Amino acid sequence: MSKTNESLMQRRVAAVPRGVGQIHPIFAAKAENAIVTDVEGREFIDFAGGIAVLNTGHLHPKVVAAVQDQLTKLTHTCFQVLAYEPYVEVCEKVAARVPGNFAKKTLLVTTGSEAVENAVKIARAATGRAGVIAFTGGYHGRTMMTLSLTGKVVPYSAGMGLMPGGVYRAQYPCELHGVSVDDAMASIERIFKNDAEPRDIAAIIIEPVQGEGGFYVAPKEFMQRLRALCDQHGILLIADEVQTGAGRTGTFFAMEQMGVAADLTTFAKSIAGGFPLAGVCGKAEYMDAIAPGGLGGTYAGNPLACAAALAVMEVFEEENLLDRCKAVGEHLVTGLKAIQAKHKSIGDVRALGAMIAVELFEGGDVHKPAAALVGQIVAKAREKGLILLSCGTYGNVLRILVPITAPDEVLDKGLAILAECFDELA
Ligand SMILES: Cc1ncc(COP(=O)(O)O)c(C=O)c1O
Repeated sequence: MSKTNESLMQRRVAAVPRGVGQIHPIFAAKAENAIVTDVEGREFIDFAGGIAVLNTGHLHPKVVAAVQDQLTKLTHTCFQVLAYEPYVEVCEKVAARVPGNFAKKTLLVTTGSEAVENAVKIARAATGRAGVIAFTGGYHGRTMMTLSLTGKVVPYSAGMGLMPGGVYRAQYPCELHGVSVDDAMASIERIFKNDAEPRDIAAIIIEPVQGEGGFYVAPKEFMQRLRALCDQHGILLIADEVQTGAGRTGTFFAMEQMGVAADLTTFAKSIAGGFPLAGVCGKAEYMDAIAPGGLGGTYAGNPLACAAALAVMEVFEEENLLDRCKAVGEHLVTGLKAIQAKHKSIGDVRALGAMIAVELFEGGDVHKPAAALVGQIVAKAREKGLILLSCGTYGNVLRILVPITAPDEVLDKGLAILAECFDELA
């Protein structure tokens, strides 16, 4: 009997804990660029991109070829036991792309959460301090330290008891919801007065564009003031570019658009086009703060994932994907604004490059997040063959992370489905 989504779902429910959520009741069988085919042979347009992992599309031929080639040579030694060149080359190439006119070193790990954990470890070792300031609505992962940093309790840390201490939360600036740059800066000054002195703070960690939090873009002015504040107090600035990095926002790293450099940058997701690779790149003097043996991991910087990352960076150059990213963003924003003109529930359409969000409010009232409507649109779009994701503190934001390699026809089909969904539901 051929497998169906329903029969596999029954097995999944019995075998996998419910804490591993699933947005769409679909089992993927294969995929190519921006199209996924499920186990029943139905095709879907993929506007989710595996949550920002597939900037170069599913199974980019160059990435596949690079991994196949690596597969015939070496799959594992553990870099700390026997090193291999692709790891070093990834570190060199990432360092050349991360903003900052200073000597850099790069550590490779496996997941975004692990990258953030290590960035905090490095900042603590480099400064001799323990505190970290993170932001409301920030998302940094699901491991214990990153759960402290993540500014959303349900579902991530609810019911799990106390998380690691020494984390203080400042306000992320967001004009749409009434938090100005001055308000956000004042919230940090309040932390210094109420919670911890600057000399106890090792780092401030920020997403240049919040991912899970709702795709809000940090104003350039805010990032610059944050940089100045960090310099004033000897605090390290960590840019969490796990979601924004690898070309999603129109530059290889979003910080390139902010006019200042972070001390440490975390990256993951699309850097290796679907293979598990992440890392921290930062000022060499800080990256060297931890003694030999204090960084690493058995699978960290796996050779297959490194080969994939080198191919991804080449593809970006060869196919001019940063330009394409801007074009994809403009194309989709134009289409989404046309839908917005007909529907009051769409309160905001925003994008940095191809990191695109549509925020829904009941009756257009910014104080009434329309989470239910977002859920209905995501479900209806799936029925019509489009895979979407939501995000935001209130779950009222539709987010688009379509492969940058998707052709215009696919973007237009996705837009047409979205327009139908709004016509039917909003
Ligand atoms: C900004 C940011 N940081 C960290 C993470 C955690 O990455 P991972 O899920 O690979 O652990 C994510 C994942 O969505 C993220 O968006």
